[in-house]
Amino acid sequence: MKSPVCIETPRLRLFIAPVELAGRYLAYFERNRDHLARWDPPRPEGFYTEAFWRERLLRDHEDFAADRALRLALQWRGAPGGEVIGVCNFTQFVRGAFQAATLGYSLDQRAVGSGLMFEAIEAAIAYMFDTLGFHRVMANYLPHNERSGRLLRRLGFAVEGYARDYLFIDGAWRDHVLTALTNPRPAPPGGSRTTGAAHPVRGAGPRHG
Ligand SMILES: CC(C)(COP(=O)(O)OP(=O)(O)OC[C@H]1O[C@@H](n2cnc3c(N)ncnc32)[C@H](O)[C@@H]1OP(=O)(O)O)[C@@H](O)C(=O)NCCC(=O)NCCS
Repeated sequence: MKSPVCIETPRLRLFIAPVELAGRYLAYFERNRDHLARWDPPRPEGFYTEAFWRERLLRDHEDFAADRALRLALQWRGAPGGEVIGVCNFTQFVRGAFQAATLGYSLDQRAVGSGLMFEAIEAAIAYMFDTLGFHRVMANYLPHNERSGRLLRRLGFAVEGYARDYLFIDGAWRDHVLTALTNPRPAPPGGSRTTGAAHPVRGAGPRHG
């Protein structure tokens, strides 16, 4: 199953993972269980099984084809078939006059702190804006997730609000800071949506700040 999206940055490759990578996805989440527990929603049943990930990856391809979501796996560039070292997911696509999606992400604990997620998101957002024609990407974080807040600020996201009891995370309903980034080159809705073919984006340069 070939990925319809392949984005390359200086250090990373971002793509919709084939079903064959289910084991690598599972290994990523098992390896980072403690690292992600404070930040991620409760895991659905079967989350730590390969069967769950086979089904999830199949759905990722269907969701992209149906213009519902773009869920990207991160790997070291030049190591196809290797470890999954992070995820960058754009979900809840809304088209029409809104042209918006919600961003979520996480990185392998061993890779945190060297600017990798900035590199990944910057390139992925260029794809969302320039190739898929979105106008707005929204991302929300726990107020005490300072690293995530710093990352979003550096990417150019603006704080738009503060939502009480917004998501159920780590055993309780938690407040979130609401942020968004709008396309610096706005276009009318119904622009450049194209799927079904590989769209390599190489050497995406800095876009914000
Ligand atoms: C949030 C998370 C994705 C950040 O990953 P990351 O790759 O470290 O983030 P960045 O790309 O912003 O890297 C920036 C860090 O690398 C450092 N860095 C080192 N070399 C760098 C370089 N060449 N370029 C940029 N930053 C560099 C920066 O100083 C910065 O450190 P700081 O965060 O202590 O200020 C990661 O911590 C994570 O997975 N957390 C758990 C899950 C989570 O919080 N998800 C988000 C929920 S809202």
